[in-house]
Amino acid sequence: VRNLFLVRHGETLFNQEDRIGGDSDLTGKGREQANALAEHFATVRIPIIFTSNYKRTLQTATPIAERQHPCSIIALPEFNEIYAGQCEGMTYEEVRQQMPDVAKERGRNKYSYVYPDGEGYMTMEERVLRGLKKVFFLNNYSENIMIVGHRAVNRVILSCFLSRQEEEIPYIYMPQDRYYHIQIDPHKRIFELIAYRS
Ligand code: G3H
Repeated sequence: VRNLFLVRHGETLFNQEDRIGGDSDLTGKGREQANALAEHFATVRIPIIFTSNYKRTLQTATPIAERQHPCSIIALPEFNEIYAGQCEGMTYEEVRQQMPDVAKERGRNKYSYVYPDGEGYMTMEERVLRGLKKVFFLNNYSENIMIVGHRAVNRVILSCFLSRQEEEIPYIYMPQDRYYHIQIDPHKRIFELIAYRS
C-alpha cells in the first residue's frame, strides 16, 4: 500500500440534526458528496474500499466503486462508529439538557470518557486498530486503498500515522467535504487534507 485515502461518509439526516450514532441514510447532499468523490477518484485505481457495516459508509462507497473496474467493497464491523450507548440517537443538545453529567464528564476528558452502556475513544481504539490490521492484510498488494469511515473512527485511524497526544485525538478535524491522503513510506510521511469539490 502506498496511498491510503481516508474518507468520511457523506452527510446524513442525523448529521443535519446533530444527532449521535444511529444508522441513518445519506441526505441528497450526502449522495451528491458521494458522487463528487466518485468523479474525483475516477482516474485513480482503487481496487478495494473498506467501510463499516453502517448504511452511510456503504452508500458513500457504492458510487465510488461503480466508477472503478473492478472494485470490491469490504465492510468491517471494526470500523463501526463509536457506540454511544444510552446517548445513541440523541442530539448533543439533548445530552446537555437531559444528561448534563455525561456532557460535562465527556467535555472534561473526551478521549477516556466512556458513554453509559457504550464506548469511548479509548475503549474503541483496539477494535479500530484490529480493523486497520485487516486492511493491510486484505489489501492484496494494492497500491491504493480507501477507507470510508466515520468521524470518531477516522480520527483514531489518522492518529496512527500522526504523532498526537491521546487527548488530542477526539478533536482531529474530520470534515465531510474533504478527505485525508496518507502516503505510506517508511522514509517520509505525508498527509494532505484534500477538498474533492471545487
Ligand atoms: O456519532 C458520533 C460522532 O461522529 C463522534 O463525534 O466524538 O466528536 O462526538 P464526537
